[in-house]
Amino acid sequence: MMNTLLLNANNHEDIQTAGNIIKQGGLVAIPTETVYGLAANALDECAVSHIYTAKGRPADNPLIVHISQTSQLDALVKEVPVCAIRLAERFWPGPLTIILRKAEGIPEIVSGGLDTVAVRLPSNQAARAVIDAAGVPLAAPSANLSGKPSPTKYAHVKADLYGKIEAIMDGGDCAVGVESTVISLVGEHPVILRPGGITKHELASVLGEVQQDRAVIGKIPAGAQVRSPGMKYKHYAPETELTIVDASPKDFTAFVNAQADTQRRDAPAIGVLCFDADRAAVRVPAVSYGKRYDGTEQASRLFDALRQLDGLRIKSAYVQIPAKNGIGLAVYNRLLRAAAFRVINPMQRHIIGLTGGSGTGKTMLSEEMKALGCAIIDCDAVSKLPDVYGPRCLSKLQAAFGADIVENGVLNRPLLAERAFSTPEGKVKLNEITHPEIYRKILELIAALERERNKLIVLDAPTLFESGFDRNCSRIIAVSARREVRIQRILTRDGMDRAAADKRINAQMEDAYYTARADYIIHNDGSRAEAKAQLTPIIKTMLELPPAKG
Ligand code: TXA
Ligand code: MG
Repeated sequence: MMNTLLLNANNHEDIQTAGNIIKQGGLVAIPTETVYGLAANALDECAVSHIYTAKGRPADNPLIVHISQTSQLDALVKEVPVCAIRLAERFWPGPLTIILRKAEGIPEIVSGGLDTVAVRLPSNQAARAVIDAAGVPLAAPSANLSGKPSPTKYAHVKADLYGKIEAIMDGGDCAVGVESTVISLVGEHPVILRPGGITKHELASVLGEVQQDRAVIGKIPAGAQVRSPGMKYKHYAPETELTIVDASPKDFTAFVNAQADTQRRDAPAIGVLCFDADRAAVRVPAVSYGKRYDGTEQASRLFDALRQLDGLRIKSAYVQIPAKNGIGLAVYNRLLRAAAFRVINPMQRHIIGLTGGSGTGKTMLSEEMKALGCAIIDCDAVSKLPDVYGPRCLSKLQAAFGADIVENGVLNRPLLAERAFSTPEGKVKLNEITHPEIYRKILELIAALERERNKLIVLDAPTLFESGFDRNCSRIIAVSARREVRIQRILTRDGMDRAAADKRINAQMEDAYYTARADYIIHNDGSRAEAKAQLTPIIKTMLELPPAKG
């Protein structure tokens, strides 16, 4: 057991101490904005070899070289292409690692025998200060034992590496929480090898077209050639056996509770890794990792949550599936590896929420979805079905809005609308009375479509989130269009004047409200064919359902 110095990132002397240890060939765990890194002098073969032994890491998995200024890139690589400069200008310092052809001086052990090198300029102040104090570039993988979740807290690093390395520096919690995005610039096209804090969308805004390696969400066949060696290992493997459940929040909690109820008394305990809002609904030990629509929060909490899960001493856990877009793709990528690629869809179908503002073209898209084999439930139409308004509902409406809104058992809709919409409270009251009835009817329709074994059931719902129906959806598609396009559509379709169309759009949520919560966004500014071209691959992917059981 080695004597491990404990250092503080806010202490200037401790930064110098860390620099000196590294200069002399030692290892120091340092904070970065992504995860803690286990740093050594990248130009010192012997020091770097100790990283592999301390972590217990396979030696064919190359390391990232960390620098404190873009000007230090030159010495590490053969040449700096223009696209690398543009990426550096936009995203450095920050959670982006760029792979380029390596310079002569880079030791084999750093690059894992490849002719390329991965370089990153972290935004964390202490990390850059340590690089400056050491006066050399730092090779630094995540500061966890190989196979453990990456460390995002000082306590994680101490748990894994205390007594195994020269020093550990306390820099508090890591802000991003998942490792950097790794992009390779050595091939014909830029390729994302590992998703992270910088999203594909952000990279594309600088580079144009960006590809994504199939290893990002695909399982790599044994023995296959991989571009990023790190992707082939079963990573972040918690001791708990994980299974990702591809289902809506509602189906997820029902599934988990059914599992718990039917379990034999002496069977090994199960638990869950879920979103905050669903924690109270599950009757098994649970750890939560953020809000459903907040990928940034999920990323920052994920690795700590995985460690907490191990602390529960359960045999296996079901994981609520994150969105796979933006930083959510990084969350999903890490979860897939933690779960050794076990994903199930117990319901053997998706319920897809289709939403967006007025004039974005939802109805047209729902027609296209129907043509592609989806079953459609038009929630607006359901709200007008006579059998939603049963005797119980009618008498509640009468009590609230006057007995005369029902004549001979028939609802006078115009009169009801006039009374209910005349005040904000009236609108709330109307929703209170009718929403449960509409909800019940929609559930009935879903059940009927399930009996017919429909794999994709679409809820065309303008107020998907406000109504809470999103909890029934395992996928959400938002339709988006520019304001001017929407206004033109409303004008031609509904025969409104411009002022009325403006007013309608102003009364609705802004575009970002829908798109920030969506798994997929259809940009519907152009032709129907263009929208269909976006939709078709999405529907094809959703039709490939994971198995019902693990
Ligand atoms: O956020 C991060 O990147 C953190 C902090 C500490 O900076 N570091 C980190 O390092 O995640 P590590 O070693 O855990 O992951 C490095 C990843 C691995 O997937 C590795 O295979 C890949 O980068 N990599 C490194 N050099 C490469 C190269 N020349 N070609 C392809 N992939 C490379
Ligand atoms: Mg790692």
